Amino acid sequence: MSLERLFASRFRNLQDIQLDLNPGINFISGKNGSGKTSLLEAAYFLSSGRSFRTLALDPVIRKGSDDCLVRGELKKGQQRWQIGIVRNRNGERDIRINGETCSRASELAEILPTRILGPESVDLLLGPPDPRRRFLNWGLFHVEQGFVELWEAANRCLRQRNQLLREGDSQSRAFKTWSFQLAEHALRIHCAREQYLSDYRPIFKQVVESICQLDEVDISYSRGWPDGVELFQIYENEAQIDEKRGFTQKGFQRADVRITVNGDLATKICSRGELKGIVWSLILAQGELNREQNTLYLIDDLASEFDIVHRRRVGSYLAKTSNQALVTGVDSRILVDCCENEIVTLFHVEHGQILLS
Ligand SMILES: Nc1ncnc2c1ncn2[C@@H]1O[C@H](COP(=O)(O)OP(=O)(O)OP(=O)(O)O)[C@@H](O)[C@H]1O
Ligand SMILES: [Mg+2]
Repeated sequence: MSLERLFASRFRNLQDIQLDLNPGINFISGKNGSGKTSLLEAAYFLSSGRSFRTLALDPVIRKGSDDCLVRGELKKGQQRWQIGIVRNRNGERDIRINGETCSRASELAEILPTRILGPESVDLLLGPPDPRRRFLNWGLFHVEQGFVELWEAANRCLRQRNQLLREGDSQSRAFKTWSFQLAEHALRIHCAREQYLSDYRPIFKQVVESICQLDEVDISYSRGWPDGVELFQIYENEAQIDEKRGFTQKGFQRADVRITVNGDLATKICSRGELKGIVWSLILAQGELNREQNTLYLIDDLASEFDIVHRRRVGSYLAKTSNQALVTGVDSRILVDCCENEIVTLFHVEHGQILLS
């Protein structure tokens, strides 16, 4: 899959734009406030029906407009796809795939998997564990059939068990049944995550080696409950403690991912730029593992916090991968310098208008 053409109307400061994209690298330069991130956001919105900057959707609609529209033309082998989404200020949305109305935004993500890489991506390691679990889920959603259903079923059991805990009902038969089912689902999620990470780890190691200048970067995973103990047994033994707290303390919802460099926690010893290199490698490696389908990388502000060596390493990585990239930067010369001798398409943004450089 590659995104051949992107249209956006009334989206942030973009009035009406159309880009004919390169299946490889596309550079987008422009001054601060010109609309570079808005353009990446439009591509992300097309793949998810959401913004990557905010949970609220109103801000993506251009000031003074009632709705926004983003459309894309994609090519996958000999097949062509047209996808589009309109969103209005009442929160109503209309998603179309090849002209057919579609109710789930996740269908867009299946057709156009995207990953955003920006200066804030380091929060994946510096922040709380939730985004790290979402990171695992993104991978599983794209490679493991039936994962969405498993995820939804496990969360339903978790909600039910938590509800009974809050009601002080931890002695009931229903509580035991939900605990049992939750433990079963949690184990299946853990097995899927473990399998995913064993396929992912060697790819991550290759990517991180090609982008970062660090020795021995490794990824490990904790499942959310102690090794060697059955989760159902824990639920039985700790029902009183869970009831006091009012929620289930152990399980798949407490899993986490750790990155170490020479055995030390990366967040403790790495610089900002080094962390950015590691996080970008984590995300790029996920796209690499998702071989069934190409991933669209949305790379915001390539130059920030990266020296020339790192920028060029990312540039040569992007030149090698089969995945497509939209890469922004303030200075087009710096962008071009990252990808010497590569065929790239250059766009320039000014006041929400796109000019082909
Ligand atoms: N809903 C909206 N309607 C109109 N303009 C908006 C809306 N939301 C944001 N803007 C404006 O769009 C402009 C472009 O923002 P954007 O974040 O895309 O800039 P940028 O080119 O990425 O800048 P930088 O180099 O600083 O990252 C900003 O001036 C912002 O105030
Ligand atoms: Mg920006």
